[in-house]
Amino acid sequence: MQSFVVNGGRRLSGRLSVQGSKNSALPILAAAFLVNGTSIIHNVPDLSDTRCTLKILSELGCTIRKEGSTVIVNSEGAQGFEIRESLMREMRSSVVFLGAIIGRCGKAVISSPGGCEIGLRPIDLHLYAMKRLGVCVDESFGKLSCTVQNALVGEKITFSFPSVGATENAILAAVTAKGTTVIVNSAREPEISDLCDFLNKCGAKIQGAGESIITIEGVNSLQGAEHSVICDRIAASTYLVAGAVTGGDVELLNTNPAHLNSVLPVLEEAGCDIRVRCKSIRLKASRRLNRMDKIITQPYPGFPTDSQALFTTLASVAKGTSVIVENIFECRFKHVPELLRMGAKIRTEGRVAVVEGVERLYGADVHSQDLRGGAALVLAGLCAEGTTNISDIQFIDRGYADLENCLCSLNADIYRKVKQDGATKKKFTKTCSDEDYSA
Ligand code: UD1
Repeated sequence: MQSFVVNGGRRLSGRLSVQGSKNSALPILAAAFLVNGTSIIHNVPDLSDTRCTLKILSELGCTIRKEGSTVIVNSEGAQGFEIRESLMREMRSSVVFLGAIIGRCGKAVISSPGGCEIGLRPIDLHLYAMKRLGVCVDESFGKLSCTVQNALVGEKITFSFPSVGATENAILAAVTAKGTTVIVNSAREPEISDLCDFLNKCGAKIQGAGESIITIEGVNSLQGAEHSVICDRIAASTYLVAGAVTGGDVELLNTNPAHLNSVLPVLEEAGCDIRVRCKSIRLKASRRLNRMDKIITQPYPGFPTDSQALFTTLASVAKGTSVIVENIFECRFKHVPELLRMGAKIRTEGRVAVVEGVERLYGADVHSQDLRGGAALVLAGLCAEGTTNISDIQFIDRGYADLENCLCSLNADIYRKVKQDGATKKKFTKTCSDEDYSA
């Protein structure tokens, strides 16, 4: 059991290099199973989700080598086609292996994926895409057995909603299918473009990534390639909000400001001064932030659902009332009751949260219940008066590499508390202090 202890009230300042994107790294690593030979993937963040992905690759028969943030995957001779239930439960994105396994082996056995409990999260669109390409799907006792009779055959796939994961699965299955696949109403997230960039380097013929129609001309085979994962736009928005709520001055390096086009204007509306360069973003904030007009989460290029919780914290300490509408997931306000414990004034009804900003939040014992909601509590702790204990941080570890070190390097006072054999250990970070004690 681990938790974060945050002593709030410190103004964040300094420069930070942002981690590689979790949501890009996971499908790209799955794609490394589909291609033949060795793929060299740089800028892979060290997260529990990426470690789970590497475990899946290894169980499927790949050889993995890690050198810092570079992962080298050799898929030669890999013939696994089944993912263990416990690994499927550990991480929802394990479902993105479906297209890659079917593309390579012509069959796949998986079970229903797990992940953060932020909504129903069905996989009907993934299965629809597989069926369109000629996959027979047999579902029984929570197990999905997928087989291809003769060969995958390119088809028109029209999504009723631009699901990120279903688009990725459709692409992975279609790149080596016979003939042409056209995906209509595909997701347009930068992570989709990153996956397609990697696959095109491997010899795939994909056009239209980043747009709502993607055309894929199937090729006979793919070879491994070298690729660097894009920067994590959600981690970037997390550190920007951290700067904003603490009245800070934070510069993020290795970012792509274009990926934050829907987020940066909201920070400006809240009164932050934003300076953008080609690969960096600097945010300076005045002490009290302004209310924001309606924040409505939408598929990319709209405001990201993954940043919603972070901005709920920001709205909690802004002047005036902000309205937040969550359109993507049914159950993504789990951080709200925890923020209330810290003195926030928020009312939720269905998918809408009305946030009346308060002058100050107060430290409390709170529980993280999902990845971004957990990060939102860390942000609340940073600007709160007193000490905040955030438990169940395994959710946060799914998506943030070394969160406490990154924040400490920006002058935050945060550390990880580890409970072992009944004792509580304070796990210091390199930038905070090197003291260590048991209590
Ligand atoms: C991905 C991201 C996640 C982000 C989300 C939306 C990864 C690893 N995760 O998740 O961080 O919050 O996109 O930007 O990239 N849906 C269906 N049927 C399906 C698939 C999805 O109804 O078959 C629904 C979901 O329940 C949800 C909505 O579509 O309400 C969006 O889901 P989707 O875009 O698929 O998100 P993920 O790929 O799971």
